Amino acid sequence: MSTTEAATETNALSAPILRETRALGSDWSLINAWAPLPGLGAIAINSLLLKGKEPLLVDTGIAPLGDAFMAALEREIDPAELAWIWISHADVDHIGALQRVLDRAPKAKVLTGYLGIAKLGLMGFDLGRVQFLEPGVVFEAGGRRLHTVRPLYYDASETMGFFDPAASLLYSVDCFGAVLPAPAETVESVAEEALRAGMATWSSMDSPWLKAIDRSALGRGLAAIERLAPAHLVSAHLPVLEGKAETLTRPIADFYCYAAPKGDPVTVEHALARFAGFSGMAA
Ligand SMILES: [Fe+2]
Ligand SMILES: [Fe+2]
Repeated sequence: MSTTEAATETNALSAPILRETRALGSDWSLINAWAPLPGLGAIAINSLLLKGKEPLLVDTGIAPLGDAFMAALEREIDPAELAWIWISHADVDHIGALQRVLDRAPKAKVLTGYLGIAKLGLMGFDLGRVQFLEPGVVFEAGGRRLHTVRPLYYDASETMGFFDPAASLLYSVDCFGAVLPAPAETVESVAEEALRAGMATWSSMDSPWLKAIDRSALGRGLAAIERLAPAHLVSAHLPVLEGKAETLTRPIADFYCYAAPKGDPVTVEHALARFAGFSGMAA
């Protein structure tokens, strides 16, 4: 890490940065970016690369870091070798460099869910290069079996993560993200209170419907992740967790399963109250 980057990390982030790619086990690499969230702090934006017989890229970061993203990818692999590009969902923080990658990876097919395909089509992507990723299937990439996983919470209904049993790696997409005071290398290096507050902020912004979720269903889902105990729990929006899953599952259980659900910064009730005197709203 350069001195400039180190200095940046001690202060609030003023512009997106891409950090050095790092290996997760023997086959996966993490491409880790951070972006400022004005007034709140910084958020991680992660992509993953699986090397092997059929290399697979998972999500493509944000557009402002397109040059840096392509350079980081090229340091890991010849993009022309890519066979698959797994798009967890078609949000701007997951498809930022997608067209650039496609241009450099003529053999690669994009994998995404039904609404993901529709969104990519509306954005002008060549749907001839897109393949439907069916929820519930095990997707095989060069002998590596990725079990599709719908995350416990998300902000786009096509969202699809996965579990790779061979690497014990769970990709939870937007689930378990957190707004942090500054970029961090590991989850463990973040102060517990900052992590909990950052998870509460992110989850309530990204999935505001969580406060109305079936608490026991969410609790069962969180317990299932604890039993799975992945060696690498990768959220798109947090440093990788390589310790106990409970570090991330317990705060969510505390917020949404046990505590009285808190209101959103902007609720329907509050928004409508502002219009209470507006005659057009009268029943
Ligand atoms: Fe999202
Ligand atoms: Fe996201």
